[in-house]
Amino acid sequence: MVCFNTGPTLLTSQHSRNMFKGKTAVVTGASSGIGRAIALHFACEGASLLVTGRNEDRLADVASECAGQGAAEVVQVIADLSNTDDVGKLGKTAMETFSKIDILVNNAGSAVVCTFQETEVEEFERVFNVNARAPFLLCQAMLPALEKAEGCIVNVSSLAASQIFPKGLAYGMSKAALNHFTEALAFECSKKGVRVNGVSPGTVKTRQLAGEGGENKLSQQEVDATVNFMAACQPLGTLSGLISADDVAKAVVFLASPSANCITGHTIVIDAGHHPYHAI
Ligand SMILES: NC(=O)c1ccc[n+]([C@@H]2O[C@H](COP(=O)([O-])OP(=O)(O)OC[C@H]3O[C@@H](n4cnc5c(N)ncnc54)[C@H](OP(=O)(O)O)[C@@H]3O)[C@@H](O)[C@H]2O)c1
Repeated sequence: MVCFNTGPTLLTSQHSRNMFKGKTAVVTGASSGIGRAIALHFACEGASLLVTGRNEDRLADVASECAGQGAAEVVQVIADLSNTDDVGKLGKTAMETFSKIDILVNNAGSAVVCTFQETEVEEFERVFNVNARAPFLLCQAMLPALEKAEGCIVNVSSLAASQIFPKGLAYGMSKAALNHFTEALAFECSKKGVRVNGVSPGTVKTRQLAGEGGENKLSQQEVDATVNFMAACQPLGTLSGLISADDVAKAVVFLASPSANCITGHTIVIDAGHHPYHAI
């Protein structure tokens, strides 16, 4: 069986450079995986954070890890991003919490692992609501505060937006919509000084992949087969061939940093050299 113990992100206070001291960051899907790693990186760099997810215990654990890593402030918001009211409340809370928002990371994501014919409309809608509609609405709600800060947005997409994965049709469509959103919003926001970029990871070792997110219908055998196949496809991957959440977080930090101040409308692919035929 493939082990999914993602372990603690390797950060220590000696890495802290306070790059985001005085900055505010909102991270969705911060209660686990890639979102947790992103929140920890910003915390390590002294940011004030609003972290959000659905699972209270896991979010509280991440919030306390962030405080321990040096975050100036950590606010937790429980919200289900498939729900319009919750999305509205999250946007409002973020605007009330921070007078300006420097960074919004739309990381929360939901998958459905189904063939085209098996995909039920409720699943299709849930995936689109979380992966495409929630980022749209959250950006709309927070744009005034992002403009005030001349801030930036980073959307967490997926390689599935541009490559075909078995049983990944609806998920890939939702992430392709997100990529289009990144480009189109960057165009609209560039005159206002707000940058919009994305990251597009290959296969990362997280709960979503392990089928622990509650919505992934793969059996353990299917999970293991997928992971082994994907690991063989990603020749540069670490951690048993897979990309780590930390690898993705570092790219997000770069896009949010002053080093990327002339980059907008792009989605960086982080795929460890993914090639679908490496495994054959
Ligand atoms: N793992 C991969 O191989 C991979 C590859 C490419 C892209 N991605 C993308 O990376 C992002 C993070 O995923 P991950 O791999 O880190 O998976 P993960 O560990 O399962 O984390 C997913 C996060 O999204 C949140 N989330 C899911 N559904 C939500 C909903 N309806 N409302 C609010 N929050 C919700 C979860 O919150 P709770 O746990 O609190 O419910 C959790 O914090 C997603 O956008 C995913 O599509 C992942």
